Amino acid sequence: MSKKLFIETLGCAMNTRDTEHMIAELSEKEGYEVTGDLTDADLILINTCSVREKPVSKLFSELGIFNKKKKPDAKIGVCGCTASHLGEEIIKRAPYVSFVLGARNVSKISEVLHKDKAVEIDINYDESEFAFKDFRSSKYKAYINISIGCDKSCTFCIVPKTRGDEISIPDSLILNEVRKSVDAGAKEIFLLGQNVNNYGRRFSGEHEKVNFTELLRRISKVGGVERIRFTSPHPFHMDDEFIEEFAANPKICKSMHMPLQSGSTKVLKEMKRGYSKEWFLNRAKKLRSVCPEVSISTDIIVAFPGESDEDFEDTLDVLKEVKFEQLFSFKYSPRPQTEAEHFSDIVDEETASERLTRLQSLHTQMLDEGNAKLLGNVYRVYFEDLFQDNFVAGRSDNNIMVKVKGSDELLGEFRDVKITSIGRTVLTGEVVV
Ligand code: 5AD
Ligand code: SF4
Repeated sequence: MSKKLFIETLGCAMNTRDTEHMIAELSEKEGYEVTGDLTDADLILINTCSVREKPVSKLFSELGIFNKKKKPDAKIGVCGCTASHLGEEIIKRAPYVSFVLGARNVSKISEVLHKDKAVEIDINYDESEFAFKDFRSSKYKAYINISIGCDKSCTFCIVPKTRGDEISIPDSLILNEVRKSVDAGAKEIFLLGQNVNNYGRRFSGEHEKVNFTELLRRISKVGGVERIRFTSPHPFHMDDEFIEEFAANPKICKSMHMPLQSGSTKVLKEMKRGYSKEWFLNRAKKLRSVCPEVSISTDIIVAFPGESDEDFEDTLDVLKEVKFEQLFSFKYSPRPQTEAEHFSDIVDEETASERLTRLQSLHTQMLDEGNAKLLGNVYRVYFEDLFQDNFVAGRSDNNIMVKVKGSDELLGEFRDVKITSIGRTVLTGEVVV
């Protein structure tokens, strides 16, 4: 009988892909099979995120619950970004944890499994050319890493301390993964990296000069690739060449993530983001002018240390001007080993909450106005998910989630869909072709 693996994934798409890598390694090398039932598992993994404080504190309460519910001889491993930054402390605080495996050490999963109390968290470990075994949770969409780590030094961000320096994965390996995914039936390729449009800055070995724009061109030429998405690009690296390729290449989905963080040039400087309010607005304007159908999403942090009312108004200003189709917004959360951890001029909790609420309600109001205009529009939708009540869901090229009545026959298929009813996160429609 095969051994059972229960794995919980927190955080970003990089973590989702790391989880797939661990499943692949464990199933091929150790004979594990994934289960959704914690009480039946022989191995329990939590793939953690440390970008904000909340998920970190949640980890220890969750570990306690897992420890109570697990089979007596089942092992618990803590992986991912919190594993990288807390390391040994996790075993000190939760001695029943069998091993700790960092976000940059995923390839060692079958090794640590056999070493009791192992802590593998070296952030200089180079996994950029590791040949992971194959496993993909979706048949229709393939996540493919194009780089590891992050070379930026945003003062709020813990990621460079959990995922290390940035190394690009050779394009021959990426293209190989693309071909394999297409052969296995995926029509959509989702490229992942902390800073994708910095691709090509540094490789582990000798490599010809290739930037992200050129990588996109090469991937789009692989037969069978119908759609390309990516996350996350950095506004600082959004040069004209990149924006123009984005607009002109029909394989590239017209949805761009532009993490603003703050609309105030003063705060952006404190954050060490490398661009100003004007640069950001200029890039967004250029993008909308060469690609009118684009939808733009963003990340915003409110109440960064020193953020005044005026600074916050600048952020609202950018929101009004760019009219982001999607907003991910957070209260600033001080993180260990970051520069901003030591900044004074902390914004009090009440002001932080007020700002977050104001930002989110302004966005919701703008979104409702924008969405109302989508009624009756027709979108080409790629179906990927089964929903409850006989609905099948997918995304338009510009990332609008749409559901229609239907069955699994639609999965992996493209259809033109007319929007018949509007919702905030998902629109409802009917297939016209
Ligand atoms: N506090 C709040 N939000 C943060 N993010 C990153 N670090 C922090 C922090 N210390 C947000 C940023 C980033 C997203 C993934 O998480 O907006 O783009
Ligand atoms: Fe992803 Fe950053 Fe969270 Fe790590 S800390 S899982 S890189 S969002």
